[in-house]
Amino acid sequence: MKTEFLGKTLSGPFTIPSGIVTCSAPIIQAFFDAIPEVGVLTTKSIGPEPRLGYREPVLSQYAPGCFVNAVGLTNPGAEQAAVLMARLDIPEDRFLLISIFGGNVDEYVQVAKIMAPFADGLELNLSCPHAKGYGMAMGQDPDLVREITAAVKAAVTIPVIPKLTPNVPNIGEIAAAAVAGGADAICGVNTVGPGQYNSHGQAVLSNGMGGMSGKGVLPIALKCVDEISNAVDCPIIACGGISSADNVRSFQKAGAKIIGIGSALVGMTTAQIGDYFSALSSDLLADTEKAESLVRYDIDMSFDSVTLVKNEKICDDISILTFNKKVGVQAGEFVFLWIPGLGEKPFSALTDDPFSLVVINLGTFTKTLIDLEPGAEAYVRGPHGMPVNPPEGAKIMTVSGGTGLAAVYQLARDLGDEGPQCPEMFVGARSDDRLYFIDECKAISTLHIATDDGSRGYNGRVTDMLRERLQQLSANELENLYFYNCGPEPMVHAAIAVQKEFCGNHQIHSAIDYMTKCGVGICGACNAPDGRRLCVDGPFL
Ligand SMILES: Cc1cc2nc3c(=O)[nH]c(=O)nc-3n(C[C@H](O)[C@H](O)[C@H](O)COP(=O)(O)O)c2cc1C
Ligand code: FES
Repeated sequence: MKTEFLGKTLSGPFTIPSGIVTCSAPIIQAFFDAIPEVGVLTTKSIGPEPRLGYREPVLSQYAPGCFVNAVGLTNPGAEQAAVLMARLDIPEDRFLLISIFGGNVDEYVQVAKIMAPFADGLELNLSCPHAKGYGMAMGQDPDLVREITAAVKAAVTIPVIPKLTPNVPNIGEIAAAAVAGGADAICGVNTVGPGQYNSHGQAVLSNGMGGMSGKGVLPIALKCVDEISNAVDCPIIACGGISSADNVRSFQKAGAKIIGIGSALVGMTTAQIGDYFSALSSDLLADTEKAESLVRYDIDMSFDSVTLVKNEKICDDISILTFNKKVGVQAGEFVFLWIPGLGEKPFSALTDDPFSLVVINLGTFTKTLIDLEPGAEAYVRGPHGMPVNPPEGAKIMTVSGGTGLAAVYQLARDLGDEGPQCPEMFVGARSDDRLYFIDECKAISTLHIATDDGSRGYNGRVTDMLRERLQQLSANELENLYFYNCGPEPMVHAAIAVQKEFCGNHQIHSAIDYMTKCGVGICGACNAPDGRRLCVDGPFL
């Protein structure tokens, strides 16, 4: 569906709004390469300095398809973002829209000058409703909107597109001010609110409040786009709750040129997003309604309360926590554990019935977990991620270190065969006192233990032990192997290197704990170097 937009002929009329899915250079490149319907790629908002953003939870679902988020403008800062954007290979028929924000006019200009050489256009985030001192406060003042737009226009030669907040009495007045400042197009709208959502009596978002997006805000977004198009004569990028072809037609009728679809992509793998946009394009051409059936209204982000019944200390910094309930996880999936006031982190279930997990002390959250007393309450959401699915008759080999054993134990238990095809588990640790769950692993697999100091099993690295074992196997046996690696990143890379000496890439599956925040594919935090998102495309990639 060729679309003319600000001097470019684009391969498609869609975008994914800022801060959703296409939040890193590898993801943007993967979308450039594979999803032509998304003609405009919008980046996460970039500011003058790096910002870590808020602690998790950063996204919560208050009804199917309806969300509240407070990510906190996480970004690497303009200088570093420019380095990352410079690596992109932008096809002729795509438009890279870099979203920027600042705390005052000078900061907008500073970031604009740094990012402009790498962009086809700049979106001005004048509308974030939950980051103090940024965004919405400025976007509610027509004089400031005109001033910022004019200052950025004077500093760059590419199109400038202010993104407006719906949280104003008269959005047409703000759009007119933006155009008076020289805006080439308008994006509407950012999230509504802020609002708050509680679960078990506690605010879910660590920030307390956040911006609302998804299905629940569509009527407000549509009204805003209608008012913007009545007030100004320039192209409009529309977003806010859009998911079906019927929604797209409504926004096009209201005056939108580019259609942004964000929250509707919750829970979709990269391949599913490609299929969804392709179905949506076909719907528009053939006047059908098929894409809407691909939206994952079944994604469940609700929390179930669990009570700790046992805290078994393995050594100073490792514990196994056992809770009072079963969790329904399949091999390869993971869950989030939320402790209100402290945060939320992803865990593999070491066992599903009763739910237990392994924790290694790596920071504030895990330190608190290690010291948790029986009787303590926590909350679980999930499962998330894709279950693993080795071919029938394949022999499973797992390689793990640290908490990685938790990610592969259930997999070997549930998917392994018996007899000669019995799974082989390779478990590495610095020393004997850091090993756990050994008898349970022996009961379901042929277990190989390696310790760096030789205090138990093979004396040396687990990957050297793996190589020695693979050297004993025939070509037929090697062909039938399926590897699952999980543990510290250097160990996983070393395991992959050894496995590649003997087997093909399709036999090797690894889970590395890239930072995981939302767990449902939206925030982009968990991107792998090839642009896949671990929480939906993996965790075993
Ligand atoms: C998790 C999340 C992060 C977001 N981050 C940004 C951001 O960095 N900059 C911005 O301008 N808008 C941001 N937004 C707002 C979206 O770009 C979009 O305007 C809004 O979600 C409405 O579209 P939707 O209902 O299709 O999601 C974010 C929204 C979500 C859900
Ligand atoms: S996309 Fe948010 S954690 Fe994966």
